[in-house]
Amino acid sequence: MTQRIPVVAGNWKMNFDHLEATYFIQKLAWLLRDAHFNYKAADIVIMPPFTSIRSVEVLVEAEKMKISVGAQTVSETAEGAFTGDISAQMLAKLGCSYVIIGHSERRKYHPEDDANLVDKVRAVLAAGMSPILCVGESFEERRQGIELGYAVQQVSDVMRDFSDEEARKVLIAYEPIWAIGTGMVATPQSAQDAAGAIREYFRTTYGESVSESVRILYGGSANASNASSLMEGPDVDGFLVGGASLDAEEFSRIARLTVKSAKDRAHRAA
Ligand code: PGA
Repeated sequence: MTQRIPVVAGNWKMNFDHLEATYFIQKLAWLLRDAHFNYKAADIVIMPPFTSIRSVEVLVEAEKMKISVGAQTVSETAEGAFTGDISAQMLAKLGCSYVIIGHSERRKYHPEDDANLVDKVRAVLAAGMSPILCVGESFEERRQGIELGYAVQQVSDVMRDFSDEEARKVLIAYEPIWAIGTGMVATPQSAQDAAGAIREYFRTTYGESVSESVRILYGGSANASNASSLMEGPDVDGFLVGGASLDAEEFSRIARLTVKSAKDRAHRAA
């Protein structure tokens, strides 16, 4: 099995102005340094609101933290008369490496559907960044027992026409909507079932090598108390963390536990 580097991405949503963001990063830098955190063992990503991205990057550089910065959405168009929008090129130039695409909150409150999600993924890839495509069922699909098919269909609707090289760079975040911000986390088994089904989709569509490279994250009330058990599933490669990413101590704990769990899992598999 390929060793995939786990990802712990903090989705701040609409929280922290640039001054609060600076304070958070200072604290996180101190906590990770104090814990002798091995930056090579995981990709740590902070995804602030647009207005805080630059401040976070300046401090990350100053503190010599090996973490990445990302954005929470992006325009599918390159430039022009699109008031209020931000292009992938602008984010790439700023130094962003990741962009969340199709978060359920964006799908709900903004006109984001499969067609423009495909264009957003394309725009992010063309700018040299990695999209984190969010999928996941609502309570209703789960009640009907169709959650796995639903999540896989959402992945397929967006991902079916990319090249192998493009598909390899995409990350998927399985985020059951009923678990987001509710404290109702998926069981490790259902997180693994969804991640496994999504990986199987990549295997049948793109082949073994791509499917073994794509990183599949879990999101939805992930925190330091459930991170280790959620990482037991062999197809879960880390987390997209919302609420718990706003607390530097909690976030650094999740990062450390994820690294430890990935290591333990690799030992068990060896
Ligand atoms: P949560 O959010 O961790 O607060 O549930 C996750 C997300 O929406 O990405």
